[in-house]
Amino acid sequence: MRSLFLGIAAVAVIAAASAPLTFQAVGQEGSKPKAAAKRPGPPPTSFAEDVFPIFKGRCLDCHQPGGKGYEASGLDLRTYEGLMKGTKFGPMVVPRDPDTSNLMWLLDWRASPDLRMPHGTKQLSICDRTAIRRWIMEGAKNN
Ligand code: HEC
Repeated sequence: MRSLFLGIAAVAVIAAASAPLTFQAVGQEGSKPKAAAKRPGPPPTSFAEDVFPIFKGRCLDCHQPGGKGYEASGLDLRTYEGLMKGTKFGPMVVPRDPDTSNLMWLLDWRASPDLRMPHGTKQLSICDRTAIRRWIMEGAKNN
């Protein structure tokens, strides 16, 4: 009687111990394709395709030679090199660090009101600002 009881107890313990394992194995298998599909992630943000068109539409009128923004600050947004050179006071973009990049401060309207960019018009959409922020986080490359 005693050995029969122990036998049942042992079976119960083994069943209880292996049940979660079986579950886990099934669960992992079930989620594998999703995890694999996620791994490549979204494509990197491109300066030419994602960032420059925003500058072209919203900033270039003022930020090229002859424009008010260029004349006041020296920031020439016609090219990647111009953006990375920054203003006559120094760089506006710190690669991988949007939070210390002056550019993001101005675009998020965290600086003084007369330095809100684009000057005198509507703020850039969250979508546009997120693209620029992501591009800086990814290293601010000329891609
Ligand atoms: C209507 C004209 C105008 C537009 C459009 C404009 N800016 Fe400016 N920007 C200026 C002027 C003027 C200054 C100089 C402000 C000052 O020093 O008082 C300036 C200065 C700046 C500076 C330097 C600020 C500093 O600390 O010296 C940055 C960076 C800048 N603009 C970025 C942008 C970006 C990015 C856009 C587009 C999203 C943009 N600007 C659109 C007129 C403009």
